[in-house]
Amino acid sequence: MVTIEELIQQAQQAAARAYAPYSHYHVGAVLVAKDGQRFSGCNVENAAYPAGICAERTALVKAVSEGVREFEMIVVWTRNGGSPCGICRQMLFEFAPDLRVLMVNEAGEVVSDLALHELLLHGFSPAKLVE
Ligand code: THU
Repeated sequence: MVTIEELIQQAQQAAARAYAPYSHYHVGAVLVAKDGQRFSGCNVENAAYPAGICAERTALVKAVSEGVREFEMIVVWTRNGGSPCGICRQMLFEFAPDLRVLMVNEAGEVVSDLALHELLLHGFSPAKLVE
C-alpha cells in the first residue's frame, strides 16, 4: 500500500518536470486509481497561453487514455499549496465526485484534504444530460 508521503514525493517529482516558462509556477499531480495504478502529471504551458494544460488534467487524460476511469485520490503539489482550478475540478468530477483531493506545499505539508464534491458544490455530472 502506497503511503501519503510516497505520493507527495511523486507529486513533487512530477512538478519538477513542469514546462512553465511563462508563469514559472510548477504544479505536479499524482492521480491514484481504485486499482492502485498511479498516473502523474505536470503543467505544460504554451506560447499560445490558453493552449496550456494543468497538471491535474495531464494526469487525468493519461489515465483515461490508458483505459482507467475509477479514481481514489489525487495529490497536488505546488510551492504554496495551491488548489486545483475550476476546469480541473470539473474534469475530475466527471469520473470521481468523491475523489479525495490533497493539496500539498513545498514543505510537504497537506494544506487541504477534502472530497472533490466539497470543492465543487453541485458539480455538473453526466447524469444531468439524460434527466
Ligand atoms: N495550474 C495547474 O497546473 N493546476 C491548477 O489547478 C492551477 C494552475 C498551472 C497552469 C499554469 O501552467 C500555471 O499553473 C499558472 O496558472
